[in-house]
Amino acid sequence: MELIFATYNPHKLSEIRNALGPRYTLQGLGDLNEKEIPETGSTIEENSLIKAEYIFKKYQKACFSDDTGLEVSVLNNEPGVFSARYAGTGHSVDNIDLLLANLIDQKDRKAQFKTIMTYFDENGKHFVFEGIVHGKITSEKQGIEGFGYDPIFQPNGFKETFAQMSLSQKNEISHRGIALKKLLAHLTSR
Ligand code: IMP
Repeated sequence: MELIFATYNPHKLSEIRNALGPRYTLQGLGDLNEKEIPETGSTIEENSLIKAEYIFKKYQKACFSDDTGLEVSVLNNEPGVFSARYAGTGHSVDNIDLLLANLIDQKDRKAQFKTIMTYFDENGKHFVFEGIVHGKITSEKQGIEGFGYDPIFQPNGFKETFAQMSLSQKNEISHRGIALKKLLAHLTSR
């Protein structure tokens, strides 16, 4: 089955390709020569819908988007919808440094990643799937795999951060992996 994934992010594309396996052919925004779609929504849900709807209206093909935020309890669920540009520069290193600085000496380090995946079928009907993984923010960076906040996010029940896990290990338990499993269950039940 052919699917368009409304992302430019090569890390997200490899994660999803790895999880989907050979039955699905996935095209990203780069493959379609698309520019980044502006995320003008004020929530993760809105941004996820904006991206998938934009692509469906343009290509009239089955497509999906994901929008993800890191929500830190003690920071009133920030950075949340602002996760990509938390430090203002759009660079993960700066975002991580700012988050660690804002949590310095803080004992409560509870956090969760939340993904909202919006899927448009070929008829334009859309479905929403949520994936949440609970964990904590470590006091320093650990690991080099993955992207974004992976080096400082340790999922509950694990000693490693996401950046110390392989792609498949992360997919098993991650926010995006959980949302994707729900999307796949939907696709195979039709
Ligand atoms: P996006 O808007 O869905 O691309 O996600 C916003 C930001 O959240 C990204 O720029 C990353 O910094 C962060 N993010 C999203 N997914 C992940 C993940 O799986 N691991 C670590 N950080 C992530």
